Amino acid sequence: VSRPLYRIPVPQSVSGTNGYEIVVGAGIWRSLPGLIERYCLAHRYAVVTDHQVAELYGSRLLRAMHGAGHRTDIYAFPAGEEQKTRATWGAITDAMLEAGLGRDTALVALGGGVAGDLGGFVAATYLRGIPVVQLPTTLLAMIDASVGGKTGVNTPAGKNLVGAFWPPRVVVVDPEVLTTLPAAQLRSGLAEAVKHGAIADAAYLDGLATRREELRAVDPEALCELVVRSVEIKVEFVTRDEREAGPRKALNFGHTIGHALEALSGYRMLHGEAVAIGMVAEARIGERCGITEPGVAEALRSVLGSLDLPTALPQDVSVERVIELTRTDKKGRKGRTEYVLLSRLGAVDPAGERWAHPIADEVVREALSATR
Ligand SMILES: NC(=O)c1ccc[n+]([C@@H]2O[C@H](COP(=O)([O-])OP(=O)(O)OC[C@H]3O[C@@H](n4cnc5c(N)ncnc54)[C@H](O)[C@@H]3O)[C@@H](O)[C@H]2O)c1
Ligand SMILES: [Zn+2]
Repeated sequence: VSRPLYRIPVPQSVSGTNGYEIVVGAGIWRSLPGLIERYCLAHRYAVVTDHQVAELYGSRLLRAMHGAGHRTDIYAFPAGEEQKTRATWGAITDAMLEAGLGRDTALVALGGGVAGDLGGFVAATYLRGIPVVQLPTTLLAMIDASVGGKTGVNTPAGKNLVGAFWPPRVVVVDPEVLTTLPAAQLRSGLAEAVKHGAIADAAYLDGLATRREELRAVDPEALCELVVRSVEIKVEFVTRDEREAGPRKALNFGHTIGHALEALSGYRMLHGEAVAIGMVAEARIGERCGITEPGVAEALRSVLGSLDLPTALPQDVSVERVIELTRTDKKGRKGRTEYVLLSRLGAVDPAGERWAHPIADEVVREALSATR
């Protein structure tokens, strides 16, 4: 059976980092040793992954790599966002040094965004940098975290504050691995796909609602098409400006309020759930300012609802606390928090090339209260 294979090129960046390809196909992980060899030939391979993913996919990868004659070892850490630290980075680099891995080593980051960010940061720094292959296993990592070359760890002062731009040699996505992903994690990833549709492609957004049954059933072909379109959109925004000066900001739609909600919940609310509510609230902000076409918030609410994502501010969340927390978000400037606003479904308002609007608290307050 020959199933479609998609290849999305990520062009070389202005700052000189290499271009690479994101390869997507249902079942392509069965030919992983060959793909890794083709895109990133190395003397030895270090697979960085969390314990959970190691058990599900790590041992299989290890056997395949050994079968193909590649010296490969696994460096695994306990699963969870709280492990994305300099301490874990230290433990992994120490173990790799101990094993005598040299500059002829390539790193394989296998797992969700945590393994991708952490593994990528190890690769960026180990012996001043070794090549990395990204093998994302969550929907969020496939359509967001593995695209754009950002790597890093959290610190007590905040998330992702220490890191590096370190583009991979290749990203290989096999949506079949999503069959083992908990449903809540899958939904959370779908929120980012909705965001991609909202900022860049209204027809794609419609398709997400139409194909919700296939998506819920983790149909590999439907997910392939979703990953491909989402990756294309993220690549487009990321390559337009790599260091977040302009259009890349559009990818923050829904995230100013989303980040505040996540933090307020003590990170018990999943990222995508918080962003789903954030998108509806930020569309309401845009409508109130006359920047977003009327009806957009309602349309987003309906698509997100059909994908089983939350769209209302939880009753126990205080509007004032949300507003307070948006001010500490890194997008905040000169006292007024800045928001990415849609002009309509599928398009972001460029705000005169600034890509974000400073909004008065009063407007945010009204929009949040309407999102109960
Ligand atoms: N670098 C970027 O540009 C970028 C962008 C967005 C998010 N991120 C980062 O991504 C991280 C979140 O990523 P995430 O949501 O993938 O979290 P994660 O890596 O913690 O994965 C979530 C959970 O799912 C498990 N898991 C992963 N794949 C699985 C599979 N196929 N089957 C069963 N279980 C599986 C993991 O073990 C983990 O417990 C955050 O740290 C965030 O900062 C980075
Ligand atoms: Zn996000």
